[in-house]
Amino acid sequence: MTAFADEPLLEVERLRVTYGGSVLALDGVDFSVPDGGAVALVGANGAGKTTALRAVTGLLRFHGGQVTTGTIRFAGRSIERADAASLVAAGIGQVLEGRRVFADLSVAENLRIGAFQNRTGRPERQIRDELGELFPMLAERADQPAGQLSGGQQQIVAIARALMAQPRLLLLDEPSLGLAPRVVAQIGEALRTVNERGCALLLVEQSTALALRVTEHAYLLETGRVRAHAPTAELLADERVRASYLGTSAVPVA
Ligand SMILES: Nc1ncnc2c1ncn2[C@@H]1O[C@H](COP(=O)(O)OP(=O)(O)O)[C@@H](O)[C@H]1O
Ligand SMILES: [Mg+2]
Repeated sequence: MTAFADEPLLEVERLRVTYGGSVLALDGVDFSVPDGGAVALVGANGAGKTTALRAVTGLLRFHGGQVTTGTIRFAGRSIERADAASLVAAGIGQVLEGRRVFADLSVAENLRIGAFQNRTGRPERQIRDELGELFPMLAERADQPAGQLSGGQQQIVAIARALMAQPRLLLLDEPSLGLAPRVVAQIGEALRTVNERGCALLLVEQSTALALRVTEHAYLLETGRVRAHAPTAELLADERVRASYLGTSAVPVA
């Protein structure tokens, strides 16, 4: 199964998702991520961003949701009915909402768990050393329980754990939530490097800072539909988009 050269790595078309058979969370959503590209899904709370990621990772069923119609293609193959484990094996990695680390395990042990899903032949040690260069904290605090780290450091561990599997596409659900701007900048820089080394990114964000730093194209989700999409800087500079997306407008109300 070879994909056509110009085919996106991930292509979502007319995706409809319901929860409990009645709550319509996504209503005909289209978006795509080029191979090696970096794309953002932005939108207010409840817009359907997390649902879109769950559809791609096969995790909807664990939340009472299902894809009712539409297609999801990854690397030339239909995956809308695939199970979560086979999607990881196919090269889809993810960083779930809320910096999930194994708090009682050391940083090094957290990374080892990520390496169990390594689908490439690359030695674990080599990947770990590479990530240690990207995030020096990982090496410095290798033996420390992850639960003792700051929020930003835990987010780095969560991202690095996903990268230990060497995914072709990494999905991130609001990784900058609650982090200081300095930490967001650091994570942004590292994600750019990860992307430059060939890993495609699909970043879900409610805040604009990381999307602007890391992605080249962005889709605005609003109540389960794509309202607009454009190069990230262009989309996020649009005043109407900012008003709907951030829930506030910089234009004074007359
Ligand atoms: N497990 C669930 N069961 C029922 N409804 C849900 C569930 N998860 C999300 N929803 C609903 O689906 C819609 C989209 O939610 P979500 O994808 O979490 O949005 P976002 O990530 O953009 O905040 C919301 O109306 C939300 O209430
Ligand atoms: Mg969400």
